[in-house]
Amino acid sequence: MTEVRMIEASAVSERFARGWHLLGLTREYDDGVPHSVEAFGTKLVIWKAASGELNVLDAYCRHMGGDLSQGSIQGENVACPFHSWRWGGDGKCKEIPYARRIPPRARTRAWQTLVVDGQLFVWHDPEGNPPPEDVTIPAIEGFDSGEWTDWVWDRTLVPSSHCREVIDNMVDMAHFYYIHKGLPTYFKNVFEGHVCTQYFSGTTHELAATGEPIEIGVAEDQPTVSDATYWGPSYLVDKLWTKYGDMTFETILITCHYPITNNSFMLNYGMIMKKNPDFDDATNDMIATKMLASIGSGFMEDVKIWKNKARIDNPLLCEEDGPVYQLRRWYEQFYVDVADIAPEMVQRFEFEIDTTKAVDFWQKELVEKAAAKKAAAEA
Ligand code: FES
Ligand SMILES: [Fe+2]
Repeated sequence: MTEVRMIEASAVSERFARGWHLLGLTREYDDGVPHSVEAFGTKLVIWKAASGELNVLDAYCRHMGGDLSQGSIQGENVACPFHSWRWGGDGKCKEIPYARRIPPRARTRAWQTLVVDGQLFVWHDPEGNPPPEDVTIPAIEGFDSGEWTDWVWDRTLVPSSHCREVIDNMVDMAHFYYIHKGLPTYFKNVFEGHVCTQYFSGTTHELAATGEPIEIGVAEDQPTVSDATYWGPSYLVDKLWTKYGDMTFETILITCHYPITNNSFMLNYGMIMKKNPDFDDATNDMIATKMLASIGSGFMEDVKIWKNKARIDNPLLCEEDGPVYQLRRWYEQFYVDVADIAPEMVQRFEFEIDTTKAVDFWQKELVEKAAAKKAAAEA
């Protein structure tokens, strides 16, 4: 008798990943009040100082635990709603209006911030080190050139999963067919250092159902071409070309998250679209908004799976599945001390899936379904 395969799952890590995490768009903080974000097992306060700088501190006041995000902005500082202690962006208490002296140890945790192309990031490191110089968030070429639309943005809470689930998507070729109405024809991963890329091209269910032959492995001519890179554990930049009829839309789609607890996270996603010169700005914005809404409903399909699936450390894979184990080894580098990063977590790894059998089967299935639907409609 063959042995039955059992699911193995270790407890989720108590630790949060080391890396830059996007909290939101800078424009969200322009309204003159402090904001709160639940992240990394605590609450953070974000405010825009009079100088224009964005600051992030632990939200719970070190005096008697007041919630700074319920307070107010006073010049450069945030004032606690409880007894009005004023905290600066560097984490130091700058003023206690009713006191003669500020206690010398009045200092709270300040989070290192980074602003890139209108996005606000914080650095998280359980060891308390600053980010290495080569670990940063790349700026988008031509972001300010006027060639792109402004950000369209949305977010959704994933209430009962570890963020490893969203990372697994990077190598999961088959789910693009079963969950996202795509049909991948080319699928390759490259991991190296703190960076992980997925090269994808493919068509859609709708187009495949016409029965027109699908070319395997051709990257440029497919209706969807995507080049998606994680810069660290949580920030994915996807350069995406989508064809509709004879028009091609070029977009940059961001998919990113920050952990709330070690078993819940906030998924943020947004995009900019290269403006089509045949349309005015309002029309380009409208197209970008519609595309993001459709991508968002795709994420909801992922969320539905995550909400119901089991955590699994020993997935049982076939040849058409991507390198899940190698991906998780790459991802592990963000959860160990820097001194414990093993060479196999960061060394270059490449894998391309042979999609021949999958494409053939999927297209047949879609053509048959389309024929059955047509027959039912005519009956
Ligand atoms: S708890 Fe914040 S000032 Fe007292
Ligand atoms: Fe997905």
